[in-house]
Amino acid sequence: MEQSSFLPRSKSSSFSSTSSRREEKLLLPLSAKPQPKFRVRALLGHCLYRRVIIWSVTAIFLLSMGLMASSGLHHDRILELVDFKYNKQDAGTATDLETVLLLISQEMEENPVPDENSTLPNWIRYKHLDGYFNGLKALVPLRDYTPEYPRASHEESPFTLTISYSGLPTPTPYVAQPDYQSAEYIEQYHEVKTCYLDKEEAVPAPSLYAYNGIVQGQPEPVFGSHSLLGLRDDVCFDRFGRYGPYGLGYSYEDGGVEVGMDTEQEGSKEVWSKTGKINYDLVDWGDAQDRCYQSNKQRFVSKDGQESAKDPANKPGLKKISRTAVVIRIYVGFQWTEHAVLNFRAMISELALRSGGEYEVHFLLHVRDNNLPIWADGEIAQQVLDENVPPEFHTICALWSENQMRLFYPVRFGTSFKNPSNRDIHGVYRSAHFPLQHFAMTHPQYDHYWNWEMDMRWLGDYYELFDRLGLWAKSQSRIGIWERSAKYYIPHYHGSWDNFTELVRGETEASGRSPVFGPALFPGKSTLRAEERGQNFMPASCAYDSEDVSRCGVGEDADLITLNPIFDTEDSGWVFDRDVTGYDRPYPIPPRRSAIVTASRLSRRLLEVMHEETWRLHHNMFSEMFPASMALHHGLKAVYAPHPVYLDREWDLEAVNEAFNGGRDHSSGGPGSPFDQHNEHNHKGTSWYYNSEFAGLLWRRWLGYPQMDGRGEDGGRNGKGTLRGGREEEESEEGTGRLCLRSMLVHPIKREHPDE
Ligand SMILES: *[C@@H]1O[C@H](CO)[C@@H](O)[C@H](O)[C@H]1NC(C)=O
Ligand SMILES: *[C@@H]1O[C@H](CO)[C@@H](O)[C@H](O)[C@H]1NC(C)=O
Repeated sequence: MEQSSFLPRSKSSSFSSTSSRREEKLLLPLSAKPQPKFRVRALLGHCLYRRVIIWSVTAIFLLSMGLMASSGLHHDRILELVDFKYNKQDAGTATDLETVLLLISQEMEENPVPDENSTLPNWIRYKHLDGYFNGLKALVPLRDYTPEYPRASHEESPFTLTISYSGLPTPTPYVAQPDYQSAEYIEQYHEVKTCYLDKEEAVPAPSLYAYNGIVQGQPEPVFGSHSLLGLRDDVCFDRFGRYGPYGLGYSYEDGGVEVGMDTEQEGSKEVWSKTGKINYDLVDWGDAQDRCYQSNKQRFVSKDGQESAKDPANKPGLKKISRTAVVIRIYVGFQWTEHAVLNFRAMISELALRSGGEYEVHFLLHVRDNNLPIWADGEIAQQVLDENVPPEFHTICALWSENQMRLFYPVRFGTSFKNPSNRDIHGVYRSAHFPLQHFAMTHPQYDHYWNWEMDMRWLGDYYELFDRLGLWAKSQSRIGIWERSAKYYIPHYHGSWDNFTELVRGETEASGRSPVFGPALFPGKSTLRAEERGQNFMPASCAYDSEDVSRCGVGEDADLITLNPIFDTEDSGWVFDRDVTGYDRPYPIPPRRSAIVTASRLSRRLLEVMHEETWRLHHNMFSEMFPASMALHHGLKAVYAPHPVYLDREWDLEAVNEAFNGGRDHSSGGPGSPFDQHNEHNHKGTSWYYNSEFAGLLWRRWLGYPQMDGRGEDGGRNGKGTLRGGREEEESEEGTGRLCLRSMLVHPIKREHPDE
């Protein structure tokens, strides 16, 4: 293969072909037959009692809607209203935005939502929110910010806003890492040496840029909370502040990746004012991470005890910190794009380099061809890398194959209770944790391992995300933690975290079930070697004679941090509920927990437990279920971190709670679970779920590319409606400029540039 295969577009490619390619993208999948609308509706009316049928029929109905010409069906009036009329001449006074937002609220009163008789699923029948798409020109300080949503139905319209604008705001460097120069830090920890992109130590890892303030009207997250987790909620990020330091918005000739030059870019130069446009042509990320670690070695807990005591760089009395690996699963055939490159540069720079080596990023490249001698022959391995990974990432990439897993775990697993996917137990689909377990066993220098995937993006500084999630999870008590983690936290509905904790405690008590505490006991349970020796994983603070049992687990690092609730899969309707293998069949199926989306942080000891359960006890469960279930069985600390998740529509909050906490005892598990295959559609309008339609739309709008807005009759759907956003709209005098959003996770991001 030629060099250009690293990236889909060669350096000389222009973006002129974009528009014709874009047209193709707008076509909807042609999988369903168009059906007359009235027929479908009659059918729906007839089957009101059967949710399953309703949803299947609705899906067909919507697909058929997508295939019908939609001209004349748009809510032109609403679209007009959100088309902000911004008048630069009026700087300093209230603008049309005020009027516009007022009109929106009137519009909403005229059409109260939801339509109680609508047979459409919740996530479709509510009105779309518009506040996400306001731009930088509507930036206000946090104190003046009013979200478009959530608000209770009886609440006054928040849209009597005054926007004063006196020029495009200026972003400032954003630092999420501790202030390593501060007296406080120096007093407690070892010195942190600056890390550089290049061997010559001329180019320090850059910082990203943020804007102080929030874009007026942007909705607040419905699940989770910035402030609870310690994430900044008073700043927003645009595409240039986020990715400009890593190559967005400048040409290949200048060492960038060119994408972003095809979007609106007023005032974007600011992000290069201190560093210039950094040339990434010759960066070797493995080398950069290694140099960074070597110069900061004395900061970290040494895994081979002896040598560190004699090290003169070792100052007594100073605390050492542990290290975390970020392990990203990629595969042969993965379509590398400029945007993917930017995202991984950001991860390495923010997590590894700017933290002085606290984190280290690794790729696990899945080689699907089991017959390739990737270990026998270095040249073959290099060839696989050359063909599948951009050179800058070669030195952080390890190759693996499913046959290798068969070699490490030559286990004759027993039967599975159920195997809905009918796939092989050593395959990545059912056992994505195998390569991670192996990685942890061969890389014991880390205490924690973030399992990550390439179609996830964090709009913000990755260090802030991973660090704050870790700290928050550490601060959580083990009392009631499994029950809290089984429930979506909806701050505007549940109140404060203390309110939520109290609520869950009451619900658990009312349910008559005992809260989970310590290792789960069940018939036929086998013990680990450590357990046979009398060890267990509970901290001293949880002992019977501990002074304050409510402090049990407080200050203990979590063994598992998930990004969706950890739910009881029993009777939950989740497809892989019984994909449980190797347990003695005369006994009932063991208790299980699962968290959808495998992105999570696992401790080394959890991975050791999983490893031993795999090779010695011959147990296994489906990828998303194994880590949480192992934590449950062995009394490890598992936490769902309620990170901010947004909804694309104006759901009634009561309905949100019903749909997402509609399982057993008001949790997300058991019968009525949102992870039931017939309920999962509710997640399509969220910013973080594997089947989300909203995440991609919002992300691409934020990147500056126009998207179909999904507005239209019967709630609209992905790919329907009107083309909104993008260069022309963001540049227009009436527009509010490019998007600037509070930090958030988005998933899945399957495409970014319109050419893809
Ligand atoms: C919903 O249906 C009921 C019963 O048919 C009717 O009384 C009610 O007015 C309807 N509500 C709306 C908003 O159309
Ligand atoms: C939260 O707790 C406070 C203090 O106990 C109480 O006043 C408030 O009503 C609670 N809020 C909710 C939503 O339960």
